[in-house]
Amino acid sequence: MHTRRIASLDVSAIGLGCMNLSHGYGVADRDTAERVLNRALDLGCTFLDTAMVYGDGANEALIGEVLRTRRTAFVLASKGGMSAQGIDGRPQTLARQIDASLSRLKTDVIDLYYLHRADPSVPIEESVGAMGRLVEAGKVREIGLSEVSSAQLLRAHREWPVAAVQSEYSLWSRTPEHGLLDVCRQQGVTLVPFSPLGRQFLTGQARDVTRLPADDLRCTIARPRFEPAAFRANQAVLAPFQAIARRLERTPAQLALSWLLSRAEGTLVPIPGTKHLPWLEENLAAADMTLSTALIEELDELFVESAISGTRYTADRMRDSDAERDRLAAVQER
Ligand SMILES: NC(=O)c1ccc[n+]([C@@H]2O[C@H](COP(=O)([O-])OP(=O)(O)OC[C@H]3O[C@@H](n4cnc5c(N)ncnc54)[C@H](OP(=O)(O)O)[C@@H]3O)[C@@H](O)[C@H]2O)c1
Repeated sequence: MHTRRIASLDVSAIGLGCMNLSHGYGVADRDTAERVLNRALDLGCTFLDTAMVYGDGANEALIGEVLRTRRTAFVLASKGGMSAQGIDGRPQTLARQIDASLSRLKTDVIDLYYLHRADPSVPIEESVGAMGRLVEAGKVREIGLSEVSSAQLLRAHREWPVAAVQSEYSLWSRTPEHGLLDVCRQQGVTLVPFSPLGRQFLTGQARDVTRLPADDLRCTIARPRFEPAAFRANQAVLAPFQAIARRLERTPAQLALSWLLSRAEGTLVPIPGTKHLPWLEENLAAADMTLSTALIEELDELFVESAISGTRYTADRMRDSDAERDRLAAVQER
């Protein structure tokens, strides 16, 4: 597995989103979860992503219990500032949450600690300043942000060097292209795309809301594109995409991931999530695939933003999203 750099950290080019083992799209049984985590490390996937909020601490506890004896074999990323109770980026909250996360994760240090969402009632400098103090205390190695606007990233970066921004980015979710990617490149910040497989849509194996459990994220916060009408309309993009994958003798999931690996001069580190061993192996194998410029252009033409039906989040979340401010600013400029 090739490696990429996130500030002082060397990570595999493709990481593992561990959320899926405990939260979001069903829960893996303990035996399966153990096998997925260990197999990921055995295959050279050395970048694991979790958060306090995933399963209300259960996902961090799982990683702590299963990988305690392999702690030096991977770079551990977690997130604070968001719990089942909501967003809270106050310094005293972050100082309390990190200790609970370290205890669940059974480790002395989290390599990359993200603010899961900027708290609208706390200046981002205050939250990031508190995270900088966690670095000084040796509890965290690098800090990151998630789903911020490019303006917020610049403000935060002036307070304390930000190593990474984790935001939704994939063939069908292009928000970071409206400014964030440029600022990341200028400031030496790595973008870590979450939901890189479009919450399964891009693999061709997703189902719409009528065939998913009510608590699945695709029926709740990420519902619009999984509503039957939008889901059907988006098949018009998916079908030719699947045909391209077949032509290349790769799977659609691999094509979606290798497209991301080709972006931003090869600096991004996507973190697909799965609780299925064959899918884990399939996803990690995408790291070996290189796309030609002509193919990248073909994919970009197919997935123009106007061809996608439905927003990536529900209307209230889109309205409150910091990351979406960059898109709104770009639209207003035009
Ligand atoms: N910062 C944030 O706010 C934020 C938000 C969302 C996610 N994340 C992080 O990003 C990670 C990944 O995002 P995500 O899980 O939302 O979306 P994703 O990786 O785009 O898609 C995950 C979905 O695709 C399925 N899948 C995975 N590989 C597949 C394959 N090769 N073929 C067919 N289906 C496949 C998974 O199924 P199974 O799970 O059933 O295997 C799951 O339903 C999460 O685990 C989490 O760590 C962060």
